[in-house]
Amino acid sequence: MTADLSTEQARERIRAAYDPTLLKQAGYVLVEALADHLAGVQQGQGPVLPWQAPEDLVCEAAEVRDQIPPAGTDRAALVDRFRQLLATMLEKGLNLHHPHYIGHQVPAPVPIAGWFDAVGSVTNQCMAIYDMGPWATAVEQSMVRRLGEQIGWRVGEFAGLVTHGGSLANFTALLTARNIASPDGWEQGVTADGRMPVLVVHSDAHYCVARSAGMLGLGTRNVLRVGLDSQRRMDPNRLDELLSDLRKRNRPIVATVACACATPIGAFDPLEAIADICRRHDVWLHVDAAHGGCACLSARHRHLIAGIERADSLVWDAHKMLFVPALCALVLYRNAAHRFEAFRQDAPYLFDPSAPGMAEYDSGMRTVECTKRAAAFGLWGVWSMFGPQLLADMVDVTFDMGRLLYEKLLAAPDFEPLHEPECNIVVFRHVPSGWQNMAPERLGRFQLELRRRLIQSGDFYIVSTNLEGIGALRVTIINPLTTPRDLDQLLDALRAQAARMLSDSTS
Ligand SMILES: Cc1ncc(COP(=O)(O)O)c(C=O)c1O
Repeated sequence: MTADLSTEQARERIRAAYDPTLLKQAGYVLVEALADHLAGVQQGQGPVLPWQAPEDLVCEAAEVRDQIPPAGTDRAALVDRFRQLLATMLEKGLNLHHPHYIGHQVPAPVPIAGWFDAVGSVTNQCMAIYDMGPWATAVEQSMVRRLGEQIGWRVGEFAGLVTHGGSLANFTALLTARNIASPDGWEQGVTADGRMPVLVVHSDAHYCVARSAGMLGLGTRNVLRVGLDSQRRMDPNRLDELLSDLRKRNRPIVATVACACATPIGAFDPLEAIADICRRHDVWLHVDAAHGGCACLSARHRHLIAGIERADSLVWDAHKMLFVPALCALVLYRNAAHRFEAFRQDAPYLFDPSAPGMAEYDSGMRTVECTKRAAAFGLWGVWSMFGPQLLADMVDVTFDMGRLLYEKLLAAPDFEPLHEPECNIVVFRHVPSGWQNMAPERLGRFQLELRRRLIQSGDFYIVSTNLEGIGALRVTIINPLTTPRDLDQLLDALRAQAARMLSDSTS
């Protein structure tokens, strides 16, 4: 009897949570609130980052969490609770659509992309095998094909997949390269024949590349870094020397990892020259184009990645310069024959041997993930609504803004650009008057403190970095709504913040 009653109460609570009318009413609240929020943020209203100390925020989130409405709360009260939670979420987050957000390589996404993702989330269209998410699979493969064509390949000859971020994408491609370089490596381990393979990488390669070497069992000590030229691009001559030496010593080489572009200052490697060298030494060429793959959409910037179509594998993050919400990263293989090389598995409960043709469409055969979020809905939705021209426009506008910022920095006596940008990543320092001869270490520390104070003020969101060991300011103009006026305001905001710091330190 008691059991029946508690079962009935449980059923009642479950019904309330799955109530489609609740979903509809909360949905109206959501649409209104998000659209109003973005309208304000996009016009620069409110802080970019509503800074709060992390532990305070954790306590606040826990406090809000615990105000759970009692069981049996009516629908209207649940909608109110939803409204309140939503308002808190919007109030507390980083506002990437604010024109003063020019921080990490994470964009202000095309907002409507989120609606496509929401459909995938609400209906939980996940992937592993084709029939778990047929439309998710179709959408993903349609984008893989379209973007591979944009790289310069022919449908049917190349293959690819979408995974959760550039780090996992690089790992997956490098695992494929490792398995090809050491065909017994998956079963026997990579040193089965006593020779440890090496990974040859751009000196400024993203940290996930060395991390991949650790995860692949190669060891980070077997990551060999190729020297850079004066523009921080991989030096093809030094690559040639290194590969010649390795071949002479009979060391197995997993791959050369080139960058398009490298994270620190957005330098694009000379891919044609690098591809020639890799071909001559018979070495797999992997191009980390997480950020710069987008250049192939722009007639004006395509030259930056000339030769990319010669890569054996490449990584391209749609959640960077294709302006869709995180995470959506592509791994592409020039030769479709390599599409199943990364993983081996024995999972009869999942993969159906009676339909081997289906493996082509079972994402779990090619990715680290078994269950995988349908990550390409946003990209497919934006592409289908606006076409590739919108993406090309956003690449051009943001790359142009990088150039413009550089020109403004050059013209300002109290700023020092540290390189000539090739894209929308710009690294520089503020050198207040009287600081021209300051010790570099102190000037560097000053940049880091300046950045921290600036972001905590809520006025701008930028990042800091180290160049040659000395602190610097770094921006990625990855919000296509940022205008030249915002860049002037950035320089003024940095000056004002620096003046306050200096007066604080003397008072
Ligand atoms: C060149 C490059 N590769 C890989 C990554 C890692 O991508 P994710 O943050 O999606 O893992 C980044 C991140 O900024 C990057 O700049």
